Amino acid sequence: MQYILFQPEMLDDVIAFLDKNITERYSPQIFSKIHNLWPEGFIIGTINNEIKSLICGAIVSHSKKLRILLVVVSSEYRLQGYGKQLMDDLSKVARSKDCKRVSLEVRNESRAIAFYTKLHFSKVDYIPCYYQDGTDAIVMEKEL
Ligand SMILES: CC(C)(COP(=O)(O)OP(=O)(O)OC[C@H]1O[C@@H](n2cnc3c(N)ncnc32)[C@H](O)[C@@H]1OP(=O)(O)O)[C@@H](O)C(=O)NCCC(=O)NCCS
Repeated sequence: MQYILFQPEMLDDVIAFLDKNITERYSPQIFSKIHNLWPEGFIIGTINNEIKSLICGAIVSHSKKLRILLVVVSSEYRLQGYGKQLMDDLSKVARSKDCKRVSLEVRNESRAIAFYTKLHFSKVDYIPCYYQDGTDAIVMEKEL
């Protein structure tokens, strides 16, 4: 997997990648906003110039916290260490910006909870009806 930073001309490919690999739908403008807020925090993984993974986050500056917004690996490349690699890479960039903690929301009962638990995240909170379909979110965090 080759890692590059998101560029605005990749937007259509990012949307197509997400449509194929996750059920949640996002408006394209959100990715331009995330990119503008923190360009180094939006990493794309490619194989043969095709998007196969991505991660994006934002820094909550008053609390020195990295907030992971989305991490996705293409279904055929899962369980090969690519998700962990993205999380490690983004954490490294955030540490260089003086972040002390990392936080994220995940769907209640999602399989991703096991992934984050493997990466030493703990459940710290619960947000009712957080997702568009009414599913609750679990907030998970760890020290960076
Ligand atoms: C969650 C996701 C990003 C994980 O990526 P991945 O590349 O498959 O994960 P990795 O191979 O790096 O796994 C790292 C560790 O987590 C474990 N793990 C990953 N997915 C798991 C699962 N579904 N159940 C149990 N353990 C899991 C791996 O076994 C591995 O453990 P190990 O280090 O002991 O071998 C990927 O499954 C995905 O894209 N899911 C759909 C989107 C999603 O739910 N994203 C998260 C919310 S935005």
